[in-house]
Amino acid sequence: MRKPLSLVIGLAIVNSGFGNPVPTYQFPPAPNFQHFDNVTVFVPPASWASHATSYGRTVILNQNCETDAVILSSFTVRPPGMPYLPIMRSTDGGNTWAQISKVYFRATNSSGGGSILQPSLYELPRQVGDLPAGTVLLSGMAVPADRTSTNIEVHASHDNGVTWEYVSTVVSSGPPNTRNGAPCVWEPFVHSIRDQLIVHYSDQSDPLYGQKLAHRNSKDGIVWTKTRNDIIFPDYNLRPGMITMAQMGNNKWIATYEVGNFDAPPASPYAVHYTIADSPEDFAKEKPQLLKAKNTGVIPSASPFVQWTPAGGDNGTVIVSDGSYSQFFINNNWGDPNSWIEVNSGHGIGYTRSLRVMPDESRILVFNGGLYGMSSTIVTAGEYWVPGPAPDPKDNTIAACGSHAKLHQ
Ligand SMILES: *[C@@H]1O[C@H](CO)[C@@H](O)[C@H](O)[C@H]1NC(C)=O
Ligand SMILES: *[C@@H]1O[C@H](CO)[C@@H](O)[C@H](O)[C@H]1NC(C)=O
Ligand SMILES: *[C@@H]1O[C@H](CO)[C@@H](O)[C@H](O)[C@H]1NC(C)=O
Repeated sequence: MRKPLSLVIGLAIVNSGFGNPVPTYQFPPAPNFQHFDNVTVFVPPASWASHATSYGRTVILNQNCETDAVILSSFTVRPPGMPYLPIMRSTDGGNTWAQISKVYFRATNSSGGGSILQPSLYELPRQVGDLPAGTVLLSGMAVPADRTSTNIEVHASHDNGVTWEYVSTVVSSGPPNTRNGAPCVWEPFVHSIRDQLIVHYSDQSDPLYGQKLAHRNSKDGIVWTKTRNDIIFPDYNLRPGMITMAQMGNNKWIATYEVGNFDAPPASPYAVHYTIADSPEDFAKEKPQLLKAKNTGVIPSASPFVQWTPAGGDNGTVIVSDGSYSQFFINNNWGDPNSWIEVNSGHGIGYTRSLRVMPDESRILVFNGGLYGMSSTIVTAGEYWVPGPAPDPKDNTIAACGSHAKLHQ
């Protein structure tokens, strides 16, 4: 969770005008989707008191072998009445969207208000407890009306996002407060491993660390393990946060996150770092790396989001978006620290702008929930073409429906 000040710093860096040499690439042939850019997903109605949106997330549904790519999205809004997270659906690859539901949270419902922040969407590739494969999960952090707690809840849909039910609360902690030493939890990332749900989140409740990244697992979606560390820094003041992750084609997992209070010039105070591990439960065993582009020396800053696609060459491409640059940071060598390249994205800056590999695997859906702390924003979507060769169709991991889960989490 960043403070608004860092946004100002981040924008100042962008406006100072890095002229980024963009490598010359062959672009892959156009896939079947109509090309689009910067389409409007959601505009808060004029009648609402708040016109702020943020924190866009998407999930592509195909565990049930749907023939058309069904994409769901969510983002934060401040609607009148009881807080909820909206669910929007696109059946044309992200070009047009319609709202299909509202997800209410327990902590806000039962207290008569408050706010719901930081959505995370996922489709279960396998059964967990009573939740069958194909269940859509939505996590988020809810603050009740009296602001006395932070609560990471999981909700489930058995009909591709049309109706929702509360599943459980993964963890609750103290009032929302970004000051080190104030116990609270933020920013869930929900997915699954083996036959269990796993939710990673930012955790300020451990007195040893100003903030750390941690996870809890559940075999039935109801009872959660104790907290286990993902990313910790020995320096108490550092604040690793806002984790997202993806599995690469070499089976390793890459997690990206910001590190608040990181103070090592030329890095920003929210320098993006990453960790590569054998599994989402093993990040604590591995060393965090600073993400720095070899072509420009730029270190991305704040609210990163990572995906891996087999497009772009023999090793595929890791793509990282951050919250301070319009550019992306890509890597064709399994996240090797000396192989990051800054490239033009063709898209505007967004707070925790999210990425999703589309079925053709050369196209990335870029989903921008709006900048942080602004009074009026809109939610937009566009596409990014992965530089380099398209993947061999016979290796297409999504064509074999159901195997999708192995990749692109
Ligand atoms: C919250 O309240 C709404 C009605 O305002 C209801 O539809 C929904 O089921 C409730 N959800 C939870 C988790 O309490
Ligand atoms: C792909 O990965 C291999 C093994 O790490 C490496 O030797 C090779 O240089 C990589 N290819 C590119 C384009 O970076
Ligand atoms: C997207 O479109 C909106 C309005 O249609 C415009 O305000 C915004 O600058 C555009 N963003 C980009 C990155 O082109």
